[in-house]
Amino acid sequence: MTIEEELQEVKEICELCHNCPLGDTRTNLVFSSGKPNHKLMLIGEAPGFYEDKQGEPFVGKAGQLLDKIFASVGLSRQEDIYICNTIKCRPPENRDPLPEEKEACRAFLDAQLEILKPRIILLCGKVALTSMLNTTLGITKVRGQWFEGPYGSRMMPIFHPSYLLRNDSTEKGSPKWLMWQDIKEVKRVYDEL
Ligand code: URA
Repeated sequence: MTIEEELQEVKEICELCHNCPLGDTRTNLVFSSGKPNHKLMLIGEAPGFYEDKQGEPFVGKAGQLLDKIFASVGLSRQEDIYICNTIKCRPPENRDPLPEEKEACRAFLDAQLEILKPRIILLCGKVALTSMLNTTLGITKVRGQWFEGPYGSRMMPIFHPSYLLRNDSTEKGSPKWLMWQDIKEVKRVYDEL
């Protein structure tokens, strides 16, 4: 089986999932986007309103900003990055996923990681951070640092684009400026792989 076929198989199982109540309220499952590029994977939080409607991650304003951030270092979201979320169904009112929802969905994220075996994993925001790294430190403390990830990967926590949308400054030291440094570092390592 190819990687695409393996992922498709997991997606089809996920489409039938009712392991938590979000399976009953979703419009669409939001499994992933982008080519299954094993060099770079981004894990976000959870689908929001537009993602739930369209069945694709990061299609709202936060997603548009993410596109711009990656484009600024020559990376295309469709070609170069496999994007998924910590949980695959939308929580009501876009609240943070509950621990039991993350637990119920974990096997699907683990399957995506196991099939893809990405070399770089970006943990986008605190939900992805706390799901993948055993830390009590906040995203502002650990963003931009490399950590050992599964299957010999390197993981870097980065700010969530929704946070950047609320913090408009691009001055040196601002969240947007820091994100720009982080993405340049990601691209540097990406080019070495
Ligand atoms: N925020 C996320 O973390 N994921 C999405 O898919 C959309 C918004």
